[in-house]
Amino acid sequence: MDNLAIIGGTGLDALGILDVHKREVVETPYGSPSGAVARGTLFGKEVLFLPRHGYSHSFAPHKINYRANLWALRELGVENILAIAAVGGIRNDMSPATLSVPKQIIDYTWGRASTFHENENDQVLHIDFTNPYCEDLRQKLLASASSANVNMIDGGTYGAAQGPRLETAAEILRMERDGCDIVGMTGMPEAALAREINLCYATCAVVANWAAGKGQGEITMEDIETNLKAGLSDVSRILEALLS
Ligand code: HPA
Repeated sequence: MDNLAIIGGTGLDALGILDVHKREVVETPYGSPSGAVARGTLFGKEVLFLPRHGYSHSFAPHKINYRANLWALRELGVENILAIAAVGGIRNDMSPATLSVPKQIIDYTWGRASTFHENENDQVLHIDFTNPYCEDLRQKLLASASSANVNMIDGGTYGAAQGPRLETAAEILRMERDGCDIVGMTGMPEAALAREINLCYATCAVVANWAAGKGQGEITMEDIETNLKAGLSDVSRILEALLS
């Protein structure tokens, strides 16, 4: 797997296993990305890394400059993007600390800059988004999980919520009726923007908590952090299989 960038999400924004040898500050026509792009070695391969929420986790999901992040990565020669994302589990088997590679998206976000083609002189662009994720990278992730003996669910529909608050129980029931299996706040417009500039993009979703109303009691940050830590060690085994 060459020309790979990893975009890390909540709890997954310090890829400590990456041996960083350079940090690249890139300005784009869309403004600044969430931070300098780290270039380093991961399991013997050169990989780029960008923390979606910034190095000090300061950008809320609706404030992330998704366009600048993807543009900067493409400027640096990236062709493949692995998005690591914390999500809430809706479907029964999407329990905390489970990993999945979603296959579909339903977008509930609003007010986010969601295309590179919005200036008056630009040609309006209608990308095909029937299958929002890059199937080639999805299959590589699943094969890597299998060879690393990590359980990773193939498929599922990612519901992209606006945040930054978590959902109400009724909102999650609606998302479930719509067909969502997991819920996160950053999957869109990231996936669509990647498609617009021909980047192969897939998500490794790590279930951080039961979505609102699906578990017992309140959702706490402590529980989320514990589950993400457990999930992240599995992610690192998958990356080792993917890269070596
Ligand atoms: N909802 C939305 N986004 C999330 C959640 C959730 O329950 N958990 C982690 N990211």
